[in-house]
Amino acid sequence: MPASAAAMPAPPADPAVPDPEPSLALADEAATAALAARLAPALRAGDLICLAGDLGAGKTAFARALINALPGPPEEVPSPTFTLVQTYPRDGLEIWHFDLYRLERADEVWELGLEEALVAGASLVEWPERAAGLLPEERLVLRFEHAGTGRRVTPEPHGSWHSRLAPLGLPLPGTGPGKTA
Ligand SMILES: Nc1ncnc2c1ncn2[C@@H]1O[C@H](COP(=O)(O)OP(=O)(O)O)[C@@H](O)[C@H]1O
Ligand SMILES: [Mg+2]
Repeated sequence: MPASAAAMPAPPADPAVPDPEPSLALADEAATAALAARLAPALRAGDLICLAGDLGAGKTAFARALINALPGPPEEVPSPTFTLVQTYPRDGLEIWHFDLYRLERADEVWELGLEEALVAGASLVEWPERAAGLLPEERLVLRFEHAGTGRRVTPEPHGSWHSRLAPLGLPLPGTGPGKTA
């Protein structure tokens, strides 16, 4: 039997060559808004979108664009830094915008109404790691990073989001470089 490539041992990982990440370039805030507008119509009750990334990575800008992409009055959508949560009724679906940066203990997230949000609303959560393991596994994580003067976002689908991303035209992990200029 001829030696096949499949039988060859995998080459050692080269730490100098990063794995191809299915990320999207967001050159400016308009690009962030365009991505939010693609996701917005797919949102439904029970959805959890985690907005990960450092300070200034563009999480609130994305939340603002998403809320304003849904039918309803224009909203300023400030960072809910002190209240930690703000709700926006949008055409039959309540959007809950959380910013957990100042959460002192993970379980305080329940006092913010998370349980109701997860059942009846759609939740956008900045600094989701502050809630530790209390957020359900069924979620879409959008990881924002600085990239030059713009930003870059890497979607990490969990649960049903694996099949929900492709119809939205969002890149999926393991589908090649997926980077757009
Ligand atoms: N895609 C983008 N390209 C360039 N600047 C952006 C982009 N998205 C957001 N910004 C800018 O980055 C700054 C921080 O954004 P913000 O959404 O408040 O970050 P975060 O909520 O992650 O701390 C704002 O001035 C915003 O206008
Ligand atoms: Mg923010």
